[in-house]
Amino acid sequence: MELDEVSLTDGCVTPAGADRIVPPELSDGDLRLRPWRQDDLSALEPVCGDGAICRFTTVPRTYSATAASAWIARHEHYLADRISVVLAIETAASAGPIGTVWLFAIDDPSRGPRIGCWLAPGERRKGFGSRAVTLLVRWAFEQLDVDAVYLDSELENRASRLAIQKLGAARHSYVRRDVRGASVTLERRILPRATFARVPDG
Ligand SMILES: CC(C)(COP(=O)(O)OP(=O)(O)OC[C@H]1O[C@@H](n2cnc3c(N)ncnc32)[C@H](O)[C@@H]1OP(=O)(O)O)[C@@H](O)C(=O)NCCC(=O)NCCS
Repeated sequence: MELDEVSLTDGCVTPAGADRIVPPELSDGDLRLRPWRQDDLSALEPVCGDGAICRFTTVPRTYSATAASAWIARHEHYLADRISVVLAIETAASAGPIGTVWLFAIDDPSRGPRIGCWLAPGERRKGFGSRAVTLLVRWAFEQLDVDAVYLDSELENRASRLAIQKLGAARHSYVRRDVRGASVTLERRILPRATFARVPDG
């Protein structure tokens, strides 16, 4: 989850009578997305403290089973309040999750819906991030009342910026965000439903 997503009442509007989101299980062959489970705790250990991940997310900076368990448990509240869907990324070859992809601020057009993703350090640049984002965006367009998704990247985060560009997302705006007391500029790109429909599978 992103840093500004910690609070459950964080400006996200839950429409009256809105239903809890049922998290999907999605797959494109050997890559699978599914909800994080409490028996995944150890998969978080190698990424706790990773600079690129912890900078913008609530992944614990220091691993403990308690902190990892609380991080996973929060996802259930986000679903109930229609704030976000957070899914673990795993492959046929992996012993458990190797990353996370999420859709945030689903019902809040002033802040989203936004997509985010991280992979454990040894799993980057293998195409998993692009495939995971593609699966989740396709699901959002098919199952939710979503016409476009936004993808933010810090200007200095070359991998993130280039991965987002490669998905075909068009530059939308620059946004400022407070990150741990410092104001940073993010490039925001947009992927509308119509554009995404032209992205080939696989
Ligand atoms: C950003 C991130 C999710 C991208 O996922 P990924 O699985 O590594 O990216 P992919 O393998 O799908 O790469 C897709 C394209 O992005 C570009 N790209 C990705 N990583 C790159 C890098 N390190 N350098 C240059 N280009 C890169 C390439 O164009 C690549 O396509 P190609 O391999 O065919 O040339 C991953 O690098 C990551 O977890 N980074 C740390 C966390 C983070 O910064 N998340 C974003 C903010 S929350």
